[in-house]
Amino acid sequence: MRSRSEPARRSVLFGLAACLVGGACLAASATAPDYPVGYRHWTHVKSGVIGPGSPAHPRFGGLHHIYANPKAMRGYSTGKFAPGSVLVFDVLEAKQGAGSVEGGERRFVDVMTKSRDGWSYTEFNGDSREQRNVTPEAGVSQCQSCHLSPKTQDQVFSRFKE
Ligand code: HEC
Repeated sequence: MRSRSEPARRSVLFGLAACLVGGACLAASATAPDYPVGYRHWTHVKSGVIGPGSPAHPRFGGLHHIYANPKAMRGYSTGKFAPGSVLVFDVLEAKQGAGSVEGGERRFVDVMTKSRDGWSYTEFNGDSREQRNVTPEAGVSQCQSCHLSPKTQDQVFSRFKE
């Protein structure tokens, strides 16, 4: 029961926040993006390791994989991501072996979801499909601010290589 009702309740709260902040209620922006069920079956765009030598390590350190749903895959080729595009930045602990690195426990799942109003950013904790470390409201300053970098294409850093 809880898993069904919780996201719905959050959507209502998010919608209310959008009304208060924006001064107008935009129905299309009133939905907090849900957990991207099944993303491990989507296209694997790329992987990377952020190690202890990187300034990004405390926040984003580990072995990460980026996944894109079919709409987002079209965005990688056109440079413009259509509403319905979803991108996932999946961060696992980087387990060091003797000259090797492999994925350990999941640290968090970062999600970018495109709607008609633009991108929403959110972060789910570990393997949880409900517990958010970063709400879509907080994602504006904690995620989007960096993704507005001139290095991105429609706020997306990664590129897909065949
Ligand atoms: C300091 C800058 C920075 C911040 C803050 C940041 N990101 Fe990113 N993000 C990046 C970079 C750089 C990449 C590309 C990594 C790669 O190519 O391996 C990326 C990749 C991604 C991707 C894959 C799509 C893409 O742009 O390549 C998603 C999804 C994502 N981030 C979501 C988030 C979310 C959600 C947050 C906030 C919780 C966040 N990011 C905060 C820099 C940032």
